Amino acid sequence: MNIEKTIEWIKIDELNGFSRMIDQTLIPYEYKKVDIKTSNDIFSAIKTMIVRGAPAIGIAGAHGVCLGAIEALNKEDFIEETKKTAQYINSSRPTAVNLAWAINEQLKVLEENKDKNPKEIVKLLIENAIKLEDEDIEINKKIGDYGAEIIPQGATILTHCNAGGLATVGYGTALGVVRSAWAKDKTIKVFADETRPRQQGARLTTYELTRDGIDTTLITDGMGAYFMNKKMIDVVVVGADRIALNGDSANKIGTYMVAIAAKYHNIPFYIAAPKSTIDPSIKTGEEIVIELRNKEEVTIINDKPICTDKVNVINPSFDVTPNELIAGIITEYGIFKPNEIYKLFE
Ligand code: MRU
Repeated sequence: MNIEKTIEWIKIDELNGFSRMIDQTLIPYEYKKVDIKTSNDIFSAIKTMIVRGAPAIGIAGAHGVCLGAIEALNKEDFIEETKKTAQYINSSRPTAVNLAWAINEQLKVLEENKDKNPKEIVKLLIENAIKLEDEDIEINKKIGDYGAEIIPQGATILTHCNAGGLATVGYGTALGVVRSAWAKDKTIKVFADETRPRQQGARLTTYELTRDGIDTTLITDGMGAYFMNKKMIDVVVVGADRIALNGDSANKIGTYMVAIAAKYHNIPFYIAAPKSTIDPSIKTGEEIVIELRNKEEVTIINDKPICTDKVNVINPSFDVTPNELIAGIITEYGIFKPNEIYKLFE
């Protein structure tokens, strides 16, 4: 399968290049790629969600380190300057651990080669970023293949937010499971939650799935339990932004509510995520930092306020689903019970 990359490093030559990514703020109105040529612009692209989704922002971070290193080539302290840029980019969004993970993979290259000349190091950083891109697609296909095994024939799958090709370099995690299941059985269907406030489900998930010809129904965030009660949902599969060692999983705000409803209705709830989404430094979900975004995401739709400006607004971007609500975590190494996911680090 030929997969178009959501984000990719465009090589000008061995020492020069830039990050090309789909501008996800424009979908579904426009499908446009933007070229990001400085480390500061990588920071902004992640913060403003031109690129979003845990694995995709990881790759953006890896590209940012390449750009930071290119920018530091003529500076006296090349290593320290590049590290500073890496730290700065890492601060763009706090919850998805893939960002820190990918930046760290680049910092390892920097550290292991610190005695080489800076140009040589830039080449190695670019090579490593391209390797991470290609591996991301391979990992997602493996997640998809393992995940397809738990999708019953003719099932309707509920998903929340967008854990698709757009949230990764390509293919997707939760939507990778959908894609692999659909390749085997064209009768499966998807229900996609709208995913307020930024509507990744409505704007991105339905865009991706219908483009692939997969039968997709859009519902608003409050409708899931209704359709579960009507026996119209067979299984829930979502992505994750950070998973603790006990399997507690952070994902887009609203996921926790879906998981509770699924438990009540005896519907299996799965997380699909690569190993790089697991944070071995934290034992439980209580330690996960939840990003708070601006109130305008909630109060303004299509440039118009939808409520009085006297109202209080809090806008957490993620919530944590406790491990006891999760039937399994689908990874590139197989499917794990949440309380056994730590075994990946033994
Ligand atoms: O705020 P976003 O759009 O970056 O949030 C994305 C999600 O919550 C996804 O479900 C998660 O990153 C997994 S993507 C494979």
